Amino acid sequence: MAKNLLTINDLTKKDILDLIAFSNNFIDEDGNFRKEDLFPDKIVANVFCEPSTRTKMSFAVAAGNLGCNVLDFDVDTSSIQKGESIFETIDALNLMGVDLCVLRHPESVIRDLAEHLPKMVFINAGEGSISHPTQALLDMKTIIDHKSDLDGLKIVIVGDLDHSRVTSSFVEGVSNFDIDSLVFCGHPEMCQKYQNTDFGIYEPDIDKALKDADVVMTLRIQYERFEKDLNLDLDSYKSAYQLSTEKLGYAKGDAIIMHPGPVNYVEITESVYDSENSVIRQQIANGVAVRMAVLSRFLSS
Ligand code: CP
Repeated sequence: MAKNLLTINDLTKKDILDLIAFSNNFIDEDGNFRKEDLFPDKIVANVFCEPSTRTKMSFAVAAGNLGCNVLDFDVDTSSIQKGESIFETIDALNLMGVDLCVLRHPESVIRDLAEHLPKMVFINAGEGSISHPTQALLDMKTIIDHKSDLDGLKIVIVGDLDHSRVTSSFVEGVSNFDIDSLVFCGHPEMCQKYQNTDFGIYEPDIDKALKDADVVMTLRIQYERFEKDLNLDLDSYKSAYQLSTEKLGYAKGDAIIMHPGPVNYVEITESVYDSENSVIRQQIANGVAVRMAVLSRFLSS
């Protein structure tokens, strides 16, 4: 396995399946996370230069469950506010003896950091709109938990795909499997990258997109990443792309509904979020188990 987890492409299909299987060991029969003092001499720094709840907190819980010392780097009170670069910042952590850096950053800096600081292990926790590999792992684990396998499934992704690092990493991850079909759906202005690909089909009509789907992944509009004001009529948007109980009727009866969070209830109704088909809250819990597996593997290598 690679030394760092910078992209899902750092993992083979076997690595992905091994990590998912390994993550299952960290959840007991009652659904609680096991606490094992495996790495008491390791220091993990959580460096998040963009907002996060799920990823940051689940890495902190995962590292704590493994007995690591966890540093919660607060960008707002750090010397980044005095003009220090991300390179000087991470180098300072390196010189203090941090073993592993979990990094979320709006720009593509993680590869250069990993190259220049070879003693540290880097785990990508979100790189602009480009990649989010541990989210892809927990998404694939959640699907396998419910469907046994990724092979043969019809998977539909609906929403603001162009700004979604969740989508790009997920697409890279599932490309290792024999899924039946991958369908991209959403406002054409938000799916420009996905209208002509050789790995999926763009279908702007949500009713057609959802037909016989096994898995439906919904995504919020990432207003913060649009370069110009988004002149969007929300009622028209919801009517065309919001996953409602009525639209869900086009998918298979046992289709699972996913969302990486946070949820804005523009892209999905509260009743679908709360429905029996929804596995959104399980995704959050799976984030801890998957990140325990990732930290264990990459701290051991
Ligand atoms: N899914 C995800 O990355 O959520 P956060 O932004 O809350 O970490």
